[in-house]
Amino acid sequence: MATMRERSTKPMYDIWSWFYNWTFGALVRSRQRRAVQQLPFKPGDRILDLGVGTGLTLKHYPTDVTVIGMDLSQGMIAKAKTMCEQRGYDHIKLVRGDGMYPPFAEQSFDHIIMCHTVTVVSDPARLLNWAAKIVKPGGRIVLANHFRSTNPVMGWFEKFTNPFWVKIGWRSDVALEDVLKGVDLHFEYHFKHRFMDLWQIVCLTNQKSVDEPMPETSNNQSKNSSQHQPNQPMLA
Ligand SMILES: C[S@@+](CC[C@H](N)C(=O)[O-])C[C@H]1O[C@@H](n2cnc3c(N)ncnc32)[C@H](O)[C@@H]1O
Repeated sequence: MATMRERSTKPMYDIWSWFYNWTFGALVRSRQRRAVQQLPFKPGDRILDLGVGTGLTLKHYPTDVTVIGMDLSQGMIAKAKTMCEQRGYDHIKLVRGDGMYPPFAEQSFDHIIMCHTVTVVSDPARLLNWAAKIVKPGGRIVLANHFRSTNPVMGWFEKFTNPFWVKIGWRSDVALEDVLKGVDLHFEYHFKHRFMDLWQIVCLTNQKSVDEPMPETSNNQSKNSSQHQPNQPMLA
């Protein structure tokens, strides 16, 4: 099965960074704005924009929240940094890091957003498991992403063409139900930004109460994922 690997994704998006804003980036701007609008932020909140890319979402945040934008690709982050410097965005901090090993403490964000990120990582379910841990109780996780169609013909086509899409930077065969299986998050709602849109906006919440202890994860993969990589400092 063709899949994404961080080792090859990183150089691929370093190259994408040269022309992302006027190719794929130009197609997704109104959806990004709509996705950010689903975050119920209040002044002082800390938001994680995971897979922030060249920073096209960043102009949609109010200046009274702190946004941490993280991305695997140095090239993409460099573009986002230049844009933030040009616009004088002091409320935005950009870090290079791998969403498979996020260097953040548990419950350290009020809300998390991932635009077009779930299908570019090697293990989408692990990414969601991480997000469930690092978002605060009551926090929302917004995904803007393509997910495999539930229409059997379209779904088959997306699976069949997946090896091609993987070569250029994302998977087309990831089903939303597979990503959410076993993830301790409440599914709130989802919708398409446009009629016949291939992408969806999905809103999830961490419904744990503040006093509830963090559950032990049951599978090995998730246990491993809670071990931070030694070269990545814990932030927050
Ligand atoms: C399709 S781009 C989307 C960028 C941005 N969110 C947007 O909507 O324009 C996917 C981004 O995810 C980043 N990415 C891929 N794998 C990642 C990982 N394991 N951890 C963090 N970022 C990752 C890529 O470098 C790329 O910038």
